Amino acid sequence: MVCLGNICRSPLAEGILQSKLPKSDFLVDSAGTGGWHVGEAPDKRSIKVGLKYGVDISNQRARQFNKKDFDAFDVIYVMDANNYCDVIAMAPTQDAKAKVRLIMDELPGFENTAVPDPYWGTATDFEHVFQLLDKVCSEIAKKLL
Ligand code: 4NP
Repeated sequence: MVCLGNICRSPLAEGILQSKLPKSDFLVDSAGTGGWHVGEAPDKRSIKVGLKYGVDISNQRARQFNKKDFDAFDVIYVMDANNYCDVIAMAPTQDAKAKVRLIMDELPGFENTAVPDPYWGTATDFEHVFQLLDKVCSEIAKKLL
């Protein structure tokens, strides 16, 4: 799960999808294309909306996406078109490029849409992000299980 800062959207995406999959079989992780928040806990507003729905992301720490992630993971979900361009630009091979997907493409009716960046927004924006990610992660889990 990749966003820009790895403190708002992708930590929620990681926590939500992992909560829908058996930990013994699936490793879900997240990272940011930017490095500004490396080592930080998720944004308090993401932690809060997660806890509201029983998803505790407070132990996550931000890290920056790197080339090794193309080998380490089977699928790389990005939150928006900027993340897509940034990650694709780092892909060393066609196989690596093929792993990168816009996450909302997995939810019928939401193809080609973004999970909007809530960083400069309000609690309502974080709620919206949670609901989008919860719906799409249910679809992803359904396909994987
Ligand atoms: P995220 O949100 O990409 O969902 O983690 C952001 C977090 C931090 C910044 C931008 C977006 N920032 O500019 O520091």
